[in-house]
This record gives sequence, structure tokens and C-alpha cells, in this order.
Amino acid sequence: MKQYGYFDDDVREFVITDPATPWPWINYLGSEDFFSLISNTAGGYCFCKDAKFRRILRYRYNGVPMDSGGRYYYIKDGDCVWNPGWKPCKTPLDRYECRHGMGYTRIIGEKDGLRAEAQFFVPRGSRCEVHRLRLTNTGAAGKCVQLYSFVEWCLWNASTDMENFQRNLSTGEVEIGDRILYHKTEYRERRDHYAFLGANRPFDGFDTDRDAFLGPYNGFDAPQQVLQGTSGHSVAHGWSPVAAQRFDLNLAPGATEELIFVLGYVENTPEAKFSAPGVINKAPAEAMLRAFDTTEKVDAAFAALRAYWDDLLGRFSLRSSVPELDRTVNIWNQYQCMVTFFMSRSASYFESGIGRGMGFRDSNQDLAGIVHLIPERARQRILDIAATQFPDGGCYHQYQPLTKRGNHDIGGGFGDDPLWLIFGTVAYIKETGDFGILEERVPFDNQAGTEVPLLEHLKISFSRVAGNLGPHGLPLIGRADWNDCLNLNCFSDNPDESFQTTENKTEGSRAESLMIAGLFVAEGKDFAELLARPEVAAPEAEVAWVQEAVGRMESAVKAHGWDGEWFLRAYDYYGRKIGSSENEESKIFIESQGWCGIARIGAVEGLCDKALDAASKYLECEHGLVLNAPAFTSYIKDYGEISSYPQGYKENGGIFCHNNPWIIIAEAMAGRAEDAWRHYCKISPAFAKDQSLRKVEPYVFCQMVAGAEAARPGEGKNSWLTGTAAWTWKTVSEFILGIKPQYDGLLVEPCIPVRIGTYRVRRRFRDAEYDLTVRLTGRGGSFRIPYRPGFQALEIEL
Ligand code: GLC
Ligand code: GLC
Repeated sequence: MKQYGYFDDDVREFVITDPATPWPWINYLGSEDFFSLISNTAGGYCFCKDAKFRRILRYRYNGVPMDSGGRYYYIKDGDCVWNPGWKPCKTPLDRYECRHGMGYTRIIGEKDGLRAEAQFFVPRGSRCEVHRLRLTNTGAAGKCVQLYSFVEWCLWNASTDMENFQRNLSTGEVEIGDRILYHKTEYRERRDHYAFLGANRPFDGFDTDRDAFLGPYNGFDAPQQVLQGTSGHSVAHGWSPVAAQRFDLNLAPGATEELIFVLGYVENTPEAKFSAPGVINKAPAEAMLRAFDTTEKVDAAFAALRAYWDDLLGRFSLRSSVPELDRTVNIWNQYQCMVTFFMSRSASYFESGIGRGMGFRDSNQDLAGIVHLIPERARQRILDIAATQFPDGGCYHQYQPLTKRGNHDIGGGFGDDPLWLIFGTVAYIKETGDFGILEERVPFDNQAGTEVPLLEHLKISFSRVAGNLGPHGLPLIGRADWNDCLNLNCFSDNPDESFQTTENKTEGSRAESLMIAGLFVAEGKDFAELLARPEVAAPEAEVAWVQEAVGRMESAVKAHGWDGEWFLRAYDYYGRKIGSSENEESKIFIESQGWCGIARIGAVEGLCDKALDAASKYLECEHGLVLNAPAFTSYIKDYGEISSYPQGYKENGGIFCHNNPWIIIAEAMAGRAEDAWRHYCKISPAFAKDQSLRKVEPYVFCQMVAGAEAARPGEGKNSWLTGTAAWTWKTVSEFILGIKPQYDGLLVEPCIPVRIGTYRVRRRFRDAEYDLTVRLTGRGGSFRIPYRPGFQALEIEL
């Protein structure tokens, strides 16, 4: 069982000790609008605001070898050329270490008595990456070395950059200073932004044309100029602009040289674009470089970044007897929630940054992971999302972060989408007490003049689903519900059609979803509670309308959604059961057990317990709960994409980690602590033993881990950007540790094995700060803490 690294919890870092990880293990830099992806070998790219439209560095997603391109530093020491991060030269190092921390990455490489320490971060309030490179001669003799920086520019639109070569190969333009190399492609016309790579000292040589730097037939691993120890002083005209600076350094024994690089992005106002005809206004770039051009300035910027994360992560911290749990709660889960909130599903090593925009349902669910951390941004996000709703309550499935407009290519029609707006808004108000958000006026489809209060958006969200029922009184599924791959109106036999947007048959469809039914009941109950609050004071008739619709749905589920041992998953176009013991394959699905369980439908009659037992019996495997079992073995046109995946992967029998928390929450609501805990540990990376098997980063949750029926069960994929982050956070914080934000305060209601003993939670909540010591006695029950600003230490026995 080969291990590639370990957790260093005191400094909140994961330390990688072998650069040849089974898959690039990455980190994210940035917390405002400039973001970077950086792997353990310094691969990756950055962008400002939008991963598709404002891409700064070029990246080849599908490169061979994988993860080619990034911010590369080359050291030429005599005949030996190496990189501190091992790649791209892959010269064996005497020592290598990569530390991924909160918003920064540090890579140390050592070779032949030379130590290179590289620190990468995006300073708060800045649109740049700072790279601090420290070279130390640890040997007994003096050293004359050359250091090269290297980045390759993306021609801004990451999609056309990879497609439209007839144009691209002629548009590239650069400008050259003595410390800074500028990338200004398309600046002459409609763009008012450029990028640059600057250093805090003048360089001794440079290149801006890729072929001149690498040599036309070389890869990143063998740049001709570096091998020769020269620079071409090339000026890019079209083709592929790059920035490569050369520094000739003399290092006495024991001496250290520190160089600071700034990889930045500048936007100028139209009036201030040029300083002379055809010459870009460089003042903002020079100022940005000046802001970080000394050790002291970089130290201060780094300290500010640390303080930012200390403050954020200080809002919820845990001390328990289980180190894996503490590490997940205190560090990595909250961190992943932040990253997922920033990126939605756009830019990761599994998402190209050019495909999806912000998902309506995804973004609402992501809120659950960050409302306690960055409530102001959650507020804005809710208003942005609501503005992509249609007047009939339906909504765009995705929107673009740059324009905030709904995405026409995908459109709407996903049956569950509207309900997630209620989910996100309720989570936000419970955390903040900000009922005022309900009065914010928000347009439909971003059309000025159509504004109504956010509360109205919630009402039409609810009534959209309430009024869109099939023959069993259950919600119509539309293109799909949460499970994008259960496409019951698609009927595609054309491989060129998208499963998500194709509806070859909808007329007379009877396809209904039990997952939406459960979601509707759960969110409906929350919505009724919200409406009845004195701060909202909705008319009684409105509250009653919601409650009645919820009641009718519960009856419909009990009458038509129960299969005898578990909840059905759906009815198909023709009204036939899906997820029933009557089916040949996929007799049981996870989503409806989770959501009907959370909604407590039929709890009194024992349905929830039975459904949860069935989930453990039929869906649980060594690494978690699979989505459906047994998996589909062939393509079923009536069901769509779900049956397109080989058994055990993704939505066809994979452990789709996103939905495991639904079962865990349902278990907790049923008071079944052992089951909840076992399921939780199985999907939590901190508890995973085998880093090689898991393959992806051991510090973040995956969207999917291959299920029992897969060729390689336990192999993780789609790490980082997944609803799993927010859902596991909600699960562990509110249901396992049991610290539940309520409109009036906190409710402490743990569901965790008694053997865990005593744990302590420090929780900031609005203007209050609680220091809670929870002693588990086995008695159970809950403890209510009315909200009151200020500090309170409490000991609670439950
Ligand atoms: C992906 C999508 C999400 C969907 C899930 C299940 O994670 O981002 O919207 O619900 O897959 O298909
Ligand atoms: C595919 C994936 C699913 C994802 C969807 C997004 O269907 O299987 O997980 O949500 O694409 O479009």
C-alpha cells in the first residue's frame, strides 16, 4: 500500500512526499475573483472571474503526459537541468516536498547541493499569483546557476484557444519591459485586459515565443534555451506567446537568493487603455509588481492570507477523540466547501472550465457549505440564482458567472431545480437571521421591470412543483431530477444527442420522481415554517396551502411510492415502476430512500427505518453506498444516460458521494447513530487507508468512488467540485455533531456513537460565539440555545 503523503494538521497542510502521485493532486489559490489551480508539480492554470472567457494560462486537459503546463521554474546547474516540482524535466531530485495549504502551495526541491523553495499564493485583494522562489546553496562550493521562469499564455477564451487556430495563430501579441513580459493579445481591439509575468529584478534574458524558447520539436521537459543556457530574446508575433525570463545567479556557499515573481491580470478603463498609440498602459501592472517586490511585502501579504483563513476556519472548530474527524471538520471539508462555492462545477482536473456554468441546483446546494463562513457572498449568490428563474417558476439549469445570465443552450425543465432555491434560502436565513433578503426585489430571467420580492420567487418555486404532478400525484420529473442521468423523456438512440437536453417524447409523459416527492415534502415543511415566522407573517391561508400540498404528497408517496421494503425511485414515461423489486436490474435506488427518509414520510408506520435498512442491505459496500443496485448491464433507451455508464461507475452503481449524506441525515433523523457514523466514515477521505487505490487527492471528497460492481472498486474520480462538500459539511456539523442553526438560536442534537465521548465545538453564530462541550451519556435528546450576542461557554450532557 504505497503512501504519497500525510496530513500536517497543526499548519493545516497536506504534505506530498513523492511527486509521482497516481493523479495530479491539486490545490486552489484565490478567494475573490482571481483563481488558480496548482498541482503538486506546479502544473495548472489561472483565470480571472471566468474560467472560460478570462483564461490566463493555457492548459491541455488531455495532455500526454498528464498535467502538462503550469508555472515552471527551470534551474540549470552545470549540465543538469531540473525543476523544484520535479516536472516537467522529471530529473530525479534529492529531496521533494509539496505542501498544499489554505490558499497556498509550497514546493521544495533539492538537487546537488541547491535547495529551491517555491511558494505560490494569490494575495487577498489582488488579481495575481505571487511566486516567491528562494534558492539556497547548501554545498561547500560556490555555484553559478541559471534560473528560468516559464508560463504559456492562453489567448483568453479557453475554448476557442483550443479550436480556432486559423485565427489564433496570427493574433498573439506581447510587449517587453526589463522586469515584466506582457501578454496583450486582442488588446488592440475589444479587450481592455492584459496579463503579465514580472520579477522583482531585471532579467538577464527573455523569450516570448514558444518555439524560440522550447525549440519547435521539444516539449516542456527539454527547452532548448535552457539546455543551452541562453535566451532567444524572441518577440512573439502570433503563434504561441509565452513568458520566459532568465536570471544568471552566483551563489556563495550557504548563500540564499530570493526572487519574487508576479503573474498578474490587469483591466484598464477604455480611456486609459494605451499610454501611446499601440502601447499598453503598464502602470497598473507595475504597481501590482511593486506591491510584492520585497520579502517584507510578500510576508505581509501572506500573513494577511493566513489571517483570512484563520478567521474563517475559526467560525466552526472541533476538538474530539477522533483525529480524522477533527481534520475533516476543522480544515479540509470547510476548505473544499469554499472552493466548490467559488468554482461551482467549472474548473478542476475533471471539469475543463469551458463546459458548464453555474448550476441552479448545484449552486443552491453549495450554499449549505458556506453560509456560516461568507454569509454576504451567500446572499448575493441567492439573488443571482433567483434572477435566472422564469415567471412560471421553472428555471435555467445553468448560468454564466461572468454575465449572470441563464444559459440558453441548456434551458430548463429539470423537475427538482425550483425546490433548491427554497433549500438555499432557508439555510441562509437560519444561519444569519436575515429575513430582509426575502424582501429583495429580483427579476425573472434578468429582465428589468419584472422584479418581485425574493419571497415571491420561493412561492412560485413551490407552486411550480406542486402544480406539476403526474397520474399518481407525484412530481413530474421533466428532463431529469437531481440525477441528471435518469432521463425518462429522452428516448435517444442517436449518439450525437445530449442526454441532458434531448426530449424526444414528452407529450403524455407520466414520468414521476419519488426523489422530488421527498424533496418537496422536506422543503415544503421548511417553507411552511418560514412563512409562519413572525418576521414573515404570511397569511394563514398561504401556510395552510403549503401544508396541504405537503400532506397530499405524503399520502401519494405512501399510496404509490412504497415498494414493500423501500421507496420506489420513479415511474417511467409509460407509468411503469423504476427501483422496484419487480425490476430485473436496479431494484433499489439511493435518492428516494434518502429524501423520503429526510422528509420522514411514513416514519410512524416504520417506512423510514425499513428503507434505511434496505439501503444498508442492498446498496452499502466497502467504500460507501452505491447509487443503485444491481447496476444496469446494458443501455436502456427508456431510462437514458444512467444506463450508458459501465456498471459501478458514476450514476450507474457508482458511490455517488453527494447522495450518501442524504442517507446519513435520514439515519440521524431516525436516531440511528451507528449507521450514520459508519456511512460517514466510509466516504470521508480522511478515513481512507489506501492512497494508491483512491488515486485522487486524499484530502478532499470525490463526486464519485467506483462502486462494488466496478472493475476497480474504491477508485475515486471527480475530486474537489462536488455537492458532496456542502452535503457532508451539513451532515457532520448539523446531524452528527448536531449543531443546528435555527431561526432563534442553535439546537444541539447530536447523533454520534456514545463511545466518542466528549467533544468541544467552538461556533460563531451571527454576533454570538459559543464554546460548547458536549458530553455523550447515551441519554440522547437535544438542547436549545436561544440566540444572544456575545460569548457563552456551555457544558451539555446528552
Ligand atoms: C453532477 C451534477 C449535479 C447532479 C449530479 C447527479 O454532480 O453537477 O447537478 O445532480 O451530477 O447527476
Ligand atoms: C453527466 C454526468 C453527471 C453530470 C452531467 C452534467 O450526465 O454523469 O454526473 O451531472 O453530465 O451535465
